[in-house]
Amino acid sequence: MTQSSSQVRRTFLEFFRSRGHEVIASAPLVPPNDPTLMFTNAGMVQFKDLFTGKEHRPYRRATSSQKCIRISGKHNDLENVGVTARHHTFFEMLGNFSFGDYFKEEAIVSAWELLTKVYGLPEDRLVVTVFGGDNSQGLAPDMEARALWKRVTQFPDERIIDMGMKDNFWQMGDTGPCGPCTEIHFFNGGDVDVSKFHDEPTSDGLGWTELWNLVFMQFERSQGADGAYKLEPLPKPCVDTGAGLERVSSVLQGKTSNYETDLLRALVDLASRLSGKPYTASQADDDVSMRVLADHARTTAFLIAEGVFPEKSAREYVLRRVMRRAIRHGHRLGIKKPFLHELTLQVVALMGDEYPELVQRKELIATVAEQEEVRFRETLDRGLKMLDEAMVLAKPTGIIEGEAAFKLTTPTGFHSI
Ligand code: ALA
Repeated sequence: MTQSSSQVRRTFLEFFRSRGHEVIASAPLVPPNDPTLMFTNAGMVQFKDLFTGKEHRPYRRATSSQKCIRISGKHNDLENVGVTARHHTFFEMLGNFSFGDYFKEEAIVSAWELLTKVYGLPEDRLVVTVFGGDNSQGLAPDMEARALWKRVTQFPDERIIDMGMKDNFWQMGDTGPCGPCTEIHFFNGGDVDVSKFHDEPTSDGLGWTELWNLVFMQFERSQGADGAYKLEPLPKPCVDTGAGLERVSSVLQGKTSNYETDLLRALVDLASRLSGKPYTASQADDDVSMRVLADHARTTAFLIAEGVFPEKSAREYVLRRVMRRAIRHGHRLGIKKPFLHELTLQVVALMGDEYPELVQRKELIATVAEQEEVRFRETLDRGLKMLDEAMVLAKPTGIIEGEAAFKLTTPTGFHSI
């Protein structure tokens, strides 16, 4: 039975609430008091000091649906956005957390029960991965997680797959709490084929997709005065999990692309109406551009709602870059007048119930988006004219001379898109 994304979110939080977890509201995208991160990139960020034992709260279990941005630092998905069926700059992460309370067993048992009994996903479309160890770091394979999965799922060994540091050891950034993880993957498409597990899913989302990552927080990575990183055990083992709301909704709505869900499809449709071009859910350039617009409008609306404005430095610059990327894609779709503010208003309409800050700052969001676009369109028109002229001069070599290239990148702002 198809479930709306609001139901998916509610079911997740309710499931863990009924198991003694405190439901905690999403923290801001701009992490307060954390100079190590530009944006909140996972549900665990607001709980970081609880894992390391620096902070204590009255609860030892929590659950949340956290707004996240992954455009900078260790977790950066920008170039994949619009091209794949499942990458975003902005997304929501569903998670459950244990601060020195339960550990591997309860995390695994709960995740399996929620996915297969409550959400009703077919077991034969799932596989799990576990940490296979890393000699260079002195880390052993996670045999305990393997044994637990075996007991809980009754899977044969080949459906419990060992993975290395890159895939199954999670850390928030270069420093901070971290640990081995175990992931649950779902097969989209026809006949399930475990032998294809290591293949990337197709661009339209067929194949294996990660749904949920369960991290067994056991270490804190820190950097010594000599610059070397070291791993030290946390005071108590903890659990940090993350499941993308867009991915889970996509699977539960019987779609292979997150852009087909009720979270994003209305934005893609608006991009299509604004451009007067049909959306055909393909890899054609126009379709990629419409998906980029849908994604970037969410990041734009949410960041402006938190008081981040497109400017020249740090976070502000990242926002400007995202907005200019969207505007450039809109321009290439042939949208002749400012449109980004219209998409951001659609984001407010779609997500305002969950995130009241969007409704409160609705006018501000639209005004800032429109002003930035008006300004950038002037630059863009000028820059594209210069590019045309430079291309004519460049013929027949096809190489743009250094000076012309410099002119293009500097005053036009082409470097920022
Ligand atoms: N923090 C983990 C992740 O982001 C759950 O995948």
